[in-house]
Amino acid sequence: MVLLLAWHESLQGRARAWTRATMQTALRLVAVLPLVCWMWRRIWQELEAREGDIDFLGRSIPFLREEEMRSLDGGSFLGSGGNDSARLLQWGGAPVVRKEFHHDGELLFMMREARLMLELCGTAGVPRPLALGFQPLTVIQEFVGEPYDKFLMQCSVQGVLRSLDQLCRRLGEVHAQGVVHNDLKVDNITVSGSVHRPVLHVIDLGWACCTGRVAGNFSLETGEEDDFPREGLGAECHWMAPEVRERRSVFASGDVFSLGFMLQQIADSCIQPWLAVPLWRLGKRCAREEPSCRPCLPKVTRALAALRRGLLWHQLQEPFLLMVRQ
Ligand SMILES: Nc1ncnc2c1ncn2[C@@H]1O[C@H](COP(=O)(O)OP(=O)(O)O)[C@@H](O)[C@H]1O
Ligand SMILES: [Mg+2]
Repeated sequence: MVLLLAWHESLQGRARAWTRATMQTALRLVAVLPLVCWMWRRIWQELEAREGDIDFLGRSIPFLREEEMRSLDGGSFLGSGGNDSARLLQWGGAPVVRKEFHHDGELLFMMREARLMLELCGTAGVPRPLALGFQPLTVIQEFVGEPYDKFLMQCSVQGVLRSLDQLCRRLGEVHAQGVVHNDLKVDNITVSGSVHRPVLHVIDLGWACCTGRVAGNFSLETGEEDDFPREGLGAECHWMAPEVRERRSVFASGDVFSLGFMLQQIADSCIQPWLAVPLWRLGKRCAREEPSCRPCLPKVTRALAALRRGLLWHQLQEPFLLMVRQ
């Protein structure tokens, strides 16, 4: 560098101006080189991740052609979120759910959800994806029972408390796989089996992510800017933990928040005060703003068990009375 500068000083007139311009350009290039390398790395990571998802899914489940998809039209409507709708139909002699995304831009989200469902491999009763369609964007998945609220309306108080205990265990199974659900609510739980021997299923992994990541944020996972459809994610998504809405890292405590919100909702609609009051208090403790102040799942399970022990036999046998029943 010193030699270069000395040589530059020895030059005269136009040669000196030309050398100066060349050296400035070279210096600028050196300065932007790390930025270019960083951007290149991010693009490369993204390409690798997308290819990885397609490869992984392609090895595990069939991709349906357009005409095959058309043969799966119809069925009965189950529910619809902002970006998709779900229908129940028969496929290969078995009931399946067809979840169809409304916009082509949701390809990445669909693949990520399908991949997580595959990787969880039935853990916590999560439905297995059976096939994918790209025109329109569709996941065909196992049908795993009726909505949780419909089940609650048929339950005794004992049944409700047992199902909540089972739900805590189901959530714990998801967390043990290093996954946080991030969107736990009554709509995203189904029940198969009978009222007396219920099996709970956690469904809808659209917001799920690995522990310690930012929900719906591709930038941490694959290097791309966050383009997850976050519209409507604000004051109205009260059941989601603040760290999900504020794009902070999420842990099991995020799902404890949503569980707490749900306990409070159930308590709000229950007209048996000896159940509603303790349930609401437990929900409030779970739904604290600060993640470190929320109880862990085993602690919630113990609190539910204590609640059950505190009730009289006839109270446990009573039907669970919701406001809507009156
Ligand atoms: N695999 C499934 N088995 C049974 N019911 C399902 C299944 N998948 C979805 N549903 C029903 O369809 C509704 C909407 O599906 P969901 O996956 O939650 O999509 P979203 O909330 O994003 O629209 C659910 O609330 C549930 O009632
Ligand atoms: Mg849902």
